[in-house]
Amino acid sequence: MLQGKGVLLGVTGSIAIYKAVDLASKLVQLGAPVDVVMTASATKMVSPITFQAIVHGRVATDMFDPTSELGMDHLALARRAAVAVVAPATANTMAKLALGLADDVLSTTFLAASCPHLVAPAMDSVMFQHPTTQENLARLKAQGWLVVGPDYGRLASGEVGPGRLAPLEKIIAAIRGALGRGGDLAGRQVVVTAGGTQEPIDPVRYIGNRSSGKMGFALAEAARDRGASVSLIAGPTSISPPPGMAVVMVTTALEMKEAVQKEAAGADVLIMAAAVADFRAEEIAAAKIKKAGEAVTLRLVLNPDILKEVRGDIVRVGFAAESEELEANAQKKLLEKRLDLIVANDITAPDSGFGSDTNRVVLIAPGREIERLPLLLKTQVAHRVLDRVVELLMRRVVGPAGIERP
Ligand code: CTP
Repeated sequence: MLQGKGVLLGVTGSIAIYKAVDLASKLVQLGAPVDVVMTASATKMVSPITFQAIVHGRVATDMFDPTSELGMDHLALARRAAVAVVAPATANTMAKLALGLADDVLSTTFLAASCPHLVAPAMDSVMFQHPTTQENLARLKAQGWLVVGPDYGRLASGEVGPGRLAPLEKIIAAIRGALGRGGDLAGRQVVVTAGGTQEPIDPVRYIGNRSSGKMGFALAEAARDRGASVSLIAGPTSISPPPGMAVVMVTTALEMKEAVQKEAAGADVLIMAAAVADFRAEEIAAAKIKKAGEAVTLRLVLNPDILKEVRGDIVRVGFAAESEELEANAQKKLLEKRLDLIVANDITAPDSGFGSDTNRVVLIAPGREIERLPLLLKTQVAHRVLDRVVELLMRRVVGPAGIERP
């Protein structure tokens, strides 16, 4: 996503500046060429040399640097940026940016950049909550700036309040989202389910499964990066859901069903990557079931099939977790659930399925040749699935015979 995409990183004199060093490093590791511009106050806190060593390039600190080989630095930097980010942003720089003042290299460069802009404020909470700062923030939002954070928590002053720089994963997710604005899923509403459901037996026990949520999260993240507005519905997982999307956490299959029906209404795509429990306990014991020296019989009833029950003009993608007869079983599910695409994976293979970072899947769609993908990272699988989703969405607009739908 970030490979070869120029990031213009504006750094200001907030105490959170030390985190900007890590941000620059993470962006470089993700393959982005990073240009750093610093305000004079920023250079008093961290030396430009630090950023220079990390981004392997010159850091702009002065509008009138006669030694610059770039010539008209601010314009050159502005032109080659695919996305421009101020992190951390002080109240002072936000005020300048909101008003279009251009009296230093950062404000001038950002005014000259026509790419998507992001700001991650970081300051004392009193300064952040000041009506003028709030007005400037509102002005930036109205101008199309994406605002990430600030988070609530402990500040450098020792006080607790809003003003902490947003976590770097959140800033990077917002950068990826901004780059994907014009992506092939831009303007689309995509609902993704992930993880496994848990069906309670008594207050301490439940029926669960080994789904880690990784595949669903990778799909949600990839859809976000391609410009979609994503609703992620997730069962309990040990990993955190990706930022930059609406997240609905659920526990049981019935809760997931309710969330899916609500989120899928009006959506363009539903991808059910969740491992939904097929059965739930007929009765949930109010107190812990005690062992009484003999076997216990648990009566299970069938859960509804969430995917099968979703109606409407929506692209429906299912997963088929199989331990035998992979393709035949997946074909059956494709027909029974009237799906547009099914992603089949053999959950017994050690390098794919539950918990692993990789997956080997087979894509099956009505009227199309079966596509057997090699072992790929789950992120790569997600993009291959979304390539097919994009094709399906295109077909929906023009119809299989090239006729525009009413
Ligand atoms: N699914 C669903 N609701 C259920 C069970 C499954 O929506 N109650 C969805 C899954 O999210 C997946 C697809 O249906 O996208 C297939 O799920 P899978 O567990 O492989 O198959 P099942 O339909 O449950 O059939 P079986 O367990 O017999 O293989």
